[in-house]
Amino acid sequence: MSKPAGGDPAPQQEHWGSKFGVILAVAGSAVGLGNFLRFPGVAVNNGGGAFMIPYILSFLLLGVPICWCEWTMGRLGGRFGQNNGPGVMYALWRRGPAKGIGALTLFIPVVVYMYYVVIEAWCLMYAIEFFKGGFGEMFADATRGLTDGKEIVGAVVGKAGDYFGTTTGQSENGGMLVGSLPWMVLICFVVNFVIIYRGVTRGIESFCKVAMPLLIFCACIILVRVLTLPNISTGLGFMWNPKWEALLDPQVWLAAAGQIFFTLSVGFGLILCYSSYLRENDDVVLTSLSASSTNEFCEVILGGMIVVPTAFLFLGAENATGGTFSLGFLTLPAIMHFMPFGNFFGGMWFGLLFLAAVTSSLSMLQPAIAFLENGFGLKRTGSVVLLGVITAIGAAPIIYFSHNLTALDHADFWCNFSMILAATAQVIMFGWVIGAARGCREANRGSDFALPKFMPFMIRYITPTFLIVVLGAWTYSTLPGYIEGMSPTTRGVSAATAVYRPVIAEHFATDELSAEQIDTRLLELVGKDARKRPLPDWLGEHETAAEEAREASSDDASVARMVFIGLIVLYLFLLALADIACRNNIGRRIAEAEARGVRLE
Ligand code: PHE
Repeated sequence: MSKPAGGDPAPQQEHWGSKFGVILAVAGSAVGLGNFLRFPGVAVNNGGGAFMIPYILSFLLLGVPICWCEWTMGRLGGRFGQNNGPGVMYALWRRGPAKGIGALTLFIPVVVYMYYVVIEAWCLMYAIEFFKGGFGEMFADATRGLTDGKEIVGAVVGKAGDYFGTTTGQSENGGMLVGSLPWMVLICFVVNFVIIYRGVTRGIESFCKVAMPLLIFCACIILVRVLTLPNISTGLGFMWNPKWEALLDPQVWLAAAGQIFFTLSVGFGLILCYSSYLRENDDVVLTSLSASSTNEFCEVILGGMIVVPTAFLFLGAENATGGTFSLGFLTLPAIMHFMPFGNFFGGMWFGLLFLAAVTSSLSMLQPAIAFLENGFGLKRTGSVVLLGVITAIGAAPIIYFSHNLTALDHADFWCNFSMILAATAQVIMFGWVIGAARGCREANRGSDFALPKFMPFMIRYITPTFLIVVLGAWTYSTLPGYIEGMSPTTRGVSAATAVYRPVIAEHFATDELSAEQIDTRLLELVGKDARKRPLPDWLGEHETAAEEAREASSDDASVARMVFIGLIVLYLFLLALADIACRNNIGRRIAEAEARGVRLE
């Protein structure tokens, strides 16, 4: 903590201890499950090596400029005594929409925390299980007596899938509450909040200074182990040989942009909060670039060369292309069974994932803590307890509604959507409200090197255009289907018809019906809501299965709807709080800062 000199009325303000510390803290926020699990899955499914073209373009045109905007605005907000999104936005733009953007920068991190902490708990649980040797025994049991290589792989992958499905309760709601998972979540909450309670320098910075080098060191050891496996080049080829035709697919470009936001944690308030703890003349230009580059090293080099190549090597192509969760929690444990010293490397891998997740989740909590302190004058204890209660209430439905991980997936979906929205709002704020040229001058103050000359142009025109195109394409391609999927009736009907369709196709197999003809028959036989009675005997046998599918799917859709409504209510609540705070404490503190001569030059 540094006290302002000479009886200055400025409130006490916390600052980072060192430049190295702040880089590691921001890199800690950025490096997380997105690097080690999400990136390899996204890259291998979107063109392999060819994916790097949209990815690098998104990094240069979106990631780097938005980071610079956010770092600069955060540092500026800090001079007005604001360490929270609404406060920073309001200090820079004394209008209603600033509060809306500010509320978004509280909302996104808090909601991400509510589900991220659950995944963090899985990592902890897996790490412990590996070190205890539990996976080794489990796979040994599953493969006892098998000799054929393919069968062994099948048995191990199957067992890993069962374990993941059961421990995370995917087959029924409430399933995550059995076993040790709730305790793991509790441990994660305690770890996160104890660190946060210790404050920015003594908590976050000290922890990241140890955890980041440690996790990078562990990842390097695992990488060396992987690269010295015989034939690993075939695995690397599988992951990285470019499939150029992927570049023609707009979804690939969307995936690249989405990955950049998620992985850099940029555009939605974390950096705003962290950089507000800088001093007025601390560099932002190089610091921002260093943190982003550390993230890219962890993502492309460490994340990109470990999971998918080894999965291909040990388990074959069909097991090397899953999504984030299946690669991470199903494939990875299976791989370790085939790798010498698998229990040790498995434990180390999940241990490093856990550390990476903690350094990220800290950054999701700090913006709201700073808001409660700046905006409502709460003391550290009060704000930590209050946020602990709020996030625990939010995490409860994520944990309880575990069937198909519905609640978690939907919360994640809306967060990803809001991330692009928030980033767009921030870049427009910087480029058009503050003014790109003025903003870039502010960024250059105290910087280790000056921003490139074309930056103002880029921030004003290129980055927002790119973002609006991404947002538009995404809204057009994904949103309508998604919203339709939230209707319990529609989802129920399509689940029930999915049960009937193959039966009908088989019954009329000799007639060789086309897909449309099958649909027509389906309608005739089971009606529009898939409930016509009486059904012919050969179809009636499947009625119970269809009813069950209908119920399960419409329940999932109701959960999706509930998550959506819950999120809207939370956002409105935060907006109201932001409004109250801006009218009172935040507004007052900004006015005081202005009276001391702080202003935007
Ligand atoms: N950037 C983190 C990762 O790659 C995820 C994250 C998302 C962190 C949102 C903070 C906020 O895993």
